This record gives sequence, C-alpha cells and structure tokens, in this order.
Amino acid sequence: MTYHDIYADWQHNPEAFWMNASQAIDWTRPPSRAFFDQGPAGEWFADGMVNTCWNAIDRHVQAGHGDRMAVIHDSAMTGQVQRLTYAQLQDQVARLAGVLAAHGVTKGDRVLIYMPMIPEALQAMMACARIGAIHSVVFGGFAAHELAVRIDDARPKAMLAASCGLEPNRVVPYKPLMDQALDEATHKPDLCVVFQRSDCKAAMTAGRDLDWTQAVADATPVDCVTVEGNHPAYILYTSGTTGQPKGVVRQTAGHLVALAWSVPHIYDIHAGDVFFVASDVGWVVGHSYIVYGPLIAGATTVIFEGKPVGTPDAGTFWRIISDHRVKSFFTAPTAIRAVRRDDPDGTLIEKYDLGNLKALFLAGERADPDTITWAENHLKVPVIDHWWQTETGWAIAANPVGAGLLPVRKGSPSVPMPGYDIHVLDEAGHQVPAGTLGAIALKLPLPPGTLPTLWNAEDRFRKAYLDHFPGYYETGDAGYVDDDGYVFIMARTDDVINVAGHRLSTGAMEEVLASHPAVAECAVIGVVDTLKGQAPLGLLCLKKGVTTAPDQILTEVVRMVRDHIGPVAAFKTACIVDRLPKTRSGKILRATMAKIADGEEMKTPATIDDPAILDEIRIALAGVGYPCEG
Ligand code: COA
Ligand code: AMP
Repeated sequence: MTYHDIYADWQHNPEAFWMNASQAIDWTRPPSRAFFDQGPAGEWFADGMVNTCWNAIDRHVQAGHGDRMAVIHDSAMTGQVQRLTYAQLQDQVARLAGVLAAHGVTKGDRVLIYMPMIPEALQAMMACARIGAIHSVVFGGFAAHELAVRIDDARPKAMLAASCGLEPNRVVPYKPLMDQALDEATHKPDLCVVFQRSDCKAAMTAGRDLDWTQAVADATPVDCVTVEGNHPAYILYTSGTTGQPKGVVRQTAGHLVALAWSVPHIYDIHAGDVFFVASDVGWVVGHSYIVYGPLIAGATTVIFEGKPVGTPDAGTFWRIISDHRVKSFFTAPTAIRAVRRDDPDGTLIEKYDLGNLKALFLAGERADPDTITWAENHLKVPVIDHWWQTETGWAIAANPVGAGLLPVRKGSPSVPMPGYDIHVLDEAGHQVPAGTLGAIALKLPLPPGTLPTLWNAEDRFRKAYLDHFPGYYETGDAGYVDDDGYVFIMARTDDVINVAGHRLSTGAMEEVLASHPAVAECAVIGVVDTLKGQAPLGLLCLKKGVTTAPDQILTEVVRMVRDHIGPVAAFKTACIVDRLPKTRSGKILRATMAKIADGEEMKTPATIDDPAILDEIRIALAGVGYPCEG
C-alpha cells in the first residue's frame, strides 16, 4: 500500500488500522480493542498483556535468529568496534535484569540511567523493560543539578551509570556527577550499578554501589515479566518553559505498536537490515530508533560514540555506513552542517563505498534546504526531513520511504503519518486556510506511542497541551500546511529553543542567571547560529550599586549555566543592558529581541511600553556581534 492508501485506511477506521498494526507484536494476551477513552488523553491497547524486551530480543532468539547481529558498537573515541548477537544480548540483559530483581527492583519501580553511548546503556534500558521497571535515561551532557531534579521527581529505586563518558579531548566523569546529584537530591535510591570503563575507574560507595561487570557475571538470569498495555515503559524528561523539566510518560503497548509500524514504513528497515541513528540514548530519537525500534524489527542497530567531525574527521559517518553496510541513516541537520563545513566538496564521502545506503533521515530541528541539497548531491540518496517531539515518540510528519517515497519538498517534513490529524489554528482556535501561518495542533486522540500524561503532573499536562485548544493537542510549534497537505514547521510558540538538535528551555537558563547576586532581571533568547541552528544569548540588567566588573559577571553567569544545567546548554554569550523591553502589562518581549539579534525585519510591537528601549538593545547586541555578518 502506498502512503495515500495507508492514510485513507487509517482515516476510514482508526480502530481497525491500529488493531491490524498490533499484530506485529507478540502478546501474552492480545488487547480486546485499540483505543481506550480513559485518562486525560486516552490510552492504547490498555487491556493487552505484553513485554517489550520479549518483543525486542527474546522472540527473535526463539524464532532461531540468535546468531543475527543485534548491536554494533562503533566508538570513534576509542577506535573499537564491538558486536553483540541477539543471543548474546539476551544473555546480558537477562543477567542485568537479574541483578536488579535480586536487589528488589520490581514492576513499576523507577530506575534512572546515566550513561554514554555504549552497549551497556541499551542493555540497561532493556533490563528495565524485562522486569517492568520504568526507566528514565538522563543525557550525559546535563550537569549534576539537572540529574538531581530528575532523581527527586522520578524517585528511582536504583541507578545505572557508567564511570565516564568520552568527549573530544576530555573524559567526562559521570560517576562523580552522579554522586554530586545524589548529595543534592532529597530522594536516595537503594542501589547504584556502575559500569567501570577502562578510561576512568570510579570510586565506589560501599553498601550502595555495585560493580556492573562482576554483578552481571554472578547474576541469575530472569525471564520477561508481562505487563498491562498501559503500564509506563519509561519517563523521559524534556524542556518546558520553566526549570522543572516535563516527565513525558510512554506506555508499553502503544510504544511497541508505533515502533513496529514506523520502522518498516518510514525508515524501510526490516529484519536483518542495519539502521544507524547518530543521536544519543538520552534523547527520544535514541530511545525510539537506536534502542527499541530496530530491535523490535529484528534489525541491527549501530551505537555510535563520537562526533560527526573531529573524531577523527568529517568522514566518520561515511566510514561507519560503509563498514557496517548501513541501509538507513538518521541524524540531526546540525551534524550534516558540521560535516559540510569541514568537507565542503564531500571529498571524504568519495573514499567510501556507500552502496547499501538507501536514505538519509533528518530530525530534531528544521532541515534547511541548503543542507538537504548538499547531502542529496553528495550522497545520491533521498534526504528526508521529518518532524516529531519527545512527547510523540515517533514522527508526526514524514516522507514514508518504506511505503513509497513521495516527492520531496525542501523545507517541509512532508505529510502527516497515520494517527496524526494536523490542524493549523489561529489564536482563537479557528482553522486557518492552507498556506496561512498558525499554531499547529493535533486533533485528539493522538496515535499509539504518544504521551498519555506527564509523570506526577496531570494538571501540567492538561495546561501545557490540552487546555489552549479544546479537543486538540497543542504541539508548541507554529507553521502552515500547503495546498497539497505538506507541513512546514517554522518556529516554536513557547520559550523552548533548539541548539544542535537539543531542546532547551530559555526559562531554565533565566532561572540560573537570576540567581547571580548582581542580576536584577534577565532574559534569554534563541539567536540564529549557522552551525547549531540556534544558540542561547543572555541579556542582564544589574542591581543598583553593583560594583563587580561587568566582564567578571558575564564570565560568572556563563560558568553558572554550564555548572547548573550542563555543557549541552552551550550558553556562551551574554550582555548587560539597562532595561529590558516589555509590554505595558510587563511581559518581556523576547521574540522582538531575537528578531533584532537575527537582523530580521521587525515591527515595533503595538503593546510595547517604551519603544526607545529597542535602540538600547540594538546597541548592546551589536556589542556582542549580533546580527552576525553573513
Ligand atoms: N556528555 C557530556 N558532555 C557532552 C555530551 C555528553 N553526552 N554531549 C555533548 N556534550 C558537551 C560537548 O562536549 C560540548 O561541550 P563544550 O562546550 O565543552 O565543547 C557541549 O556539550 C555542547 O555539545 P553539542 O551541542 O553536541 O556540540 P558539540 O560541540 O559536542 O558538537 C556538533 C558539535 C556540530 C558536532 C553538534 O552540532 C552535533 O552534531 N551534535 C549532535 C546532534 C545530535 O545528535 N542531536 C540529537 C538530536 S537527533
Ligand atoms: P525534541 O522533543 O527534543 O525532539 O524537540 C522537538 C522540537 O524540535 C519540535 O517541537 C520542533 O520545535 C523541533 N523539531 C524537531 N524536528 C523538527 C523538524 N523536522 N523540523 C522543524 N522542527 C523540528
């Protein structure tokens, strides 16, 4: 079936469509129906009984594919490649699950995972899934404080960590960061299992910390524990408008069905194929398409530790695609921009045989047409932008390569996937005509695999996503749909920015800046960055009578954001201003300042309290190099 038939099929009978899709999954007890109108936004396959780890690993071994490659770990940081078959993976995961079970971790307990891109991170997630524990993976680029916030919200019984991560030119000691987070957090887990990497050995706390390798070797393997379809599989924290992250909940059965559908239909990945997704297990892309999706399909997943450039050069992606015979490759546009900057003529691409590669997928931020054209010209395969969010867990809009490629329209992530009914609304919630910019909303219910609520925060879930446009899920993105149904995503409608494909909260950064003793008031805006898409920029108003040198204050706030939120915030630039522009009701005009910084045409907002402040902002931004030349 082609895309248009598939989408029409879903529109005609969503219940039958998803019941049919659910047949790709092994159930202990099949669901009696697909959609359950319960909870704030509905749930999927709630009365089915199922286990994720069984579907991702054990069933392939049972079907006689134990010798098939499940995981290829390629570390450009250490130069090592490690391979695990499905049978080997099953053994490791069953043992690690045994370690957790022996220490009292059971169905419904939370387990926090803080690990770099090594196979043990995937094993950690699968071990939780095996016993019905709810994992929450925290990206390694976050600082100890962010980890502490998540520990206190998720209240994990156990933590799984590695001694360190490897970044270019530095070892990031994860275990001391975890210890620091545990000191700060009010909640204390009973157990920490620590994988000691040879690059740096962590000091262990007696009575709490277990050596991973030893514990796994000594463990008794355990079987999969069957859970209800609506049992939470994981919590993944993502940035909202405040410093308190949102705990996106993913329920087991919807997750399985959505991934089992999307891996073949969107990415054209089937059993035995090799899928390379260059992201991180700490992000939703890593959850869905490095860890769960490819294994559910019985394919091989590549776990890549390294950077697109500098480890050792801009040819690393192409070497991996060639060495491991990758069929579909998925990364963020920023990574391709970095490669292009270092190798503008694609000379390194020509060194490798990319004969197996069938498509490049981009997501995480808007794929600019220039980057798409460059990649198309050099890779000679379709380059597919697709749009989704941590909340949805899989693509809202895509070009489904596995169901027959549609014409690519550069600047658009193409068309809605089945289950997603995209509407563009004006402020009052009325649908706008094709081609008109508005807030993008999805008609409820959302499809399987999307969030049913936020962890411990149902009210926040309703307020953030459901209340503004009754009957719809508010995506937080603005854009339009053209006459042919292609979607264009143009901007966020909230204070979230996107730096190198990483979603960050300017509100969280403002909370850090405001805690500096010299700062009276502040704003953080996202400004255009040619490599990372956007970069954060801080504007500070100082308290009266402050005598500290401005340069020192600026250095201190940069350091504070790095220490508090983490290097991933990439907060490098701030400037001091006398006043911030505000509306007459006192709202800071962040979008107006961002337009000035980007050199965009800008109308002075009618609601502004004092238009003269905009000239002061212009001068301050020029002082730190904005708008950028070219
Ligand atoms: N653990 C610890 N620190 C990390 C980290 C991790 N897992 N990941 C990133 N960091 C650090 C980096 O070392 C960097 O620190 P620095 O300020 O000391 O240089 C900082 O966080 C910013 O990281 P990032 O924004 O990823 O930039 P980078 O300099 O590491 O890489 C590019 C630059 C161009 C290669 C980058 O744009 C890129 O490709 N990033 C990955 C994109 C991606 O996979 N996004 C996921 C969505 S699909
Ligand atoms: P995250 O939850 O980290 O995956 O970030 C989701 C947000 O990233 C979306 O709401 C968009 O703002 C942005 N985003 C992701 N993919 C795309 C895309 N293909 N085009 C435009 N914006 C995107």
